[in-house]
Amino acid sequence: MSISRRTLVRNVGGLALGLGVSRLSRPAEAAPADFSFIHITDTHIQPELGATEGVHQAFEKIRQLKEKPAFALIGGDLVMDANTVSRKRAEMVYDLWQEAASSLNMPVYYTIGNHDAYALGGESKLSSDNPEYGKKWWLKRLSLANRYNSFDHKGWRFVMLDSVSIDEQGGWHGELDADQLLWLDNLLRKTDKNMPMVFLTHIPIMTLFGMYTEGTTKAVSSGLVVSNGKQFQEMIQGRNVKAVFQGHTHVVEECIYLGTRYITGGAVSGDWWKGYRLGVHPEGFTVVRAKGGEISHRYMTYGWKARTV
Ligand SMILES: [Fe+2]
Repeated sequence: MSISRRTLVRNVGGLALGLGVSRLSRPAEAAPADFSFIHITDTHIQPELGATEGVHQAFEKIRQLKEKPAFALIGGDLVMDANTVSRKRAEMVYDLWQEAASSLNMPVYYTIGNHDAYALGGESKLSSDNPEYGKKWWLKRLSLANRYNSFDHKGWRFVMLDSVSIDEQGGWHGELDADQLLWLDNLLRKTDKNMPMVFLTHIPIMTLFGMYTEGTTKAVSSGLVVSNGKQFQEMIQGRNVKAVFQGHTHVVEECIYLGTRYITGGAVSGDWWKGYRLGVHPEGFTVVRAKGGEISHRYMTYGWKARTV
């Protein structure tokens, strides 16, 4: 099959016109500006096992990065923990976290972890309508207005989800609730399909965790993965979602589906301050670089030596 000269000329002309327009007169469609940010998850700060010193050591390493991150995405499980402890203990571990977070000297954006909710049981159990129960404590301590939210930075849209569903008895599992999905649907409708997006969740939405810990035919429960992750994936399909940053399992893992990277970012605390998770995933955090509308990332350790071994 031959291409006529007229067709060729028209196509070449169109290409030339396209280049001219994108370079000279349509700056609004230029690739988003470059920047970097940090994904910090599962600090589990506490006085025991040297955890507070460990978090400060990790954050010192972040402060020393050559390229200063624009902000930090905080993946939850800030403290160890607030679920069933006394009011005094919950205040104390949150104070430790806030002191550490302020030392980062950068904006921080949060998703809740299952250990961050207060008074679900134990000696300080509160009724669910108490203004300090569960996630309401987390919102109050971090001065947050909503349990899920979004912000824009240099042409990118970042979305912080709430993946921790708490039941009447104070138990929890991974799920994105109906109100949140309605909010997300509205947000996606208002987002240009080409706009690069990044999501933040505590409990993973996609993971192979069960396959390499229990066996390749084993599925994980909603204690380890968001139960309606399939619904989330269908909602973002066709969108320009570059990454979903995840925590909770403390492993360093990446699954890519239809161009979306589901990145589980290890844990600052490693195996809850007792060494490497599964013996192979060290204490660390993820440095992310956004360049030309794409991301690259690397997991960085900070030289922590567990004090129990
Ligand atoms: Fe955790």
